[in-house]
Amino acid sequence: EQTKAAGTRRILLAGPRSFCAGVERAIEIVERALRSHPGPIYVRKQIVHNISVVEDFTRRGVIFVEELDEVPNGSTVVFSAHGVSPAVREDAARRQLDVIDGTCPLVTKVHAKARRFAARGDTVVLIGHGGHEEVEGTLGEAPESIVLVETLEDVQNLEIPDPERASYLTQTTLAVDDTAEFIGALRQRFPLLHEPSSEDICYATTNRQHALGAIVDESELVLVVGSTNSSNSVRLVELSRRQGTPAYLIDSSKDIQPEWLDGVTTIGLTAGASAPPALVDEVVGALRELGPVSVEEREISRETTHFELPAAVRDLPDRAQ
Ligand code: F3S
Repeated sequence: EQTKAAGTRRILLAGPRSFCAGVERAIEIVERALRSHPGPIYVRKQIVHNISVVEDFTRRGVIFVEELDEVPNGSTVVFSAHGVSPAVREDAARRQLDVIDGTCPLVTKVHAKARRFAARGDTVVLIGHGGHEEVEGTLGEAPESIVLVETLEDVQNLEIPDPERASYLTQTTLAVDDTAEFIGALRQRFPLLHEPSSEDICYATTNRQHALGAIVDESELVLVVGSTNSSNSVRLVELSRRQGTPAYLIDSSKDIQPEWLDGVTTIGLTAGASAPPALVDEVVGALRELGPVSVEEREISRETTHFELPAAVRDLPDRAQ
């Protein structure tokens, strides 16, 4: 019995983890579009940054494209959860595409602020990662007024024409700690910086970071289920490593290298906001196959956020009926 107990591996499940309300909504939009549209459904960019979600929809006939020029005129196209710039919307209107907007409402909120701040004459500092779709969309709201900062060095080198007219925004999926540091550095350089009335880092990002924070010290290894282009998932890996616990991003149990588990008795397990809960179950199952495990749920808060579907799919007749 003694040896058996000693050989049992402990899995600490961080909670909240996995799907957020914005991702659930974006996926449901594609589900409904598939059910109710006779023709092919196009999705601009990955609907959410998760390879298994995209593969599943691809198998079921959804066509993912990088840009709208790959979509035939008049077709139905879904915009991904990360949002699009106004130029993309205009292009879609010109091409008479039937658009269903999967943009997360919390991203839409950041876009609205970008427009408002730019319209009052501010230079808007956007803290975020260049090249990420969300950042590209937000920048597109006021390209001449928004400047992107990606590093603290960028903050130091930043020039703002009128420091009395400056404000900032952030990407929704940044590290909470890092961002506080960026904002501190910005305030130091530009004391007259306008403070936004609310934070842009979303509840799901914040909750997943806090939940992982609650188990990271007890864990000898952290596994984060998520795809490499998922910003909030990558932040979870970084958070763990910064706390001194080795961490890896995995798309599924197939990515687990046996040597990671050498001598490890406590594994922290979480998943980014775009990773399906079923993948977490799959990882637990795979770990169980390696030997006895005990699973402990460590839920620090419960999420109740839910977003309404856009009218375009809320009211669609269901072809299956
Ligand atoms: Fe939206 Fe945050 Fe999820 S911005 S898509 S609720 S990670």
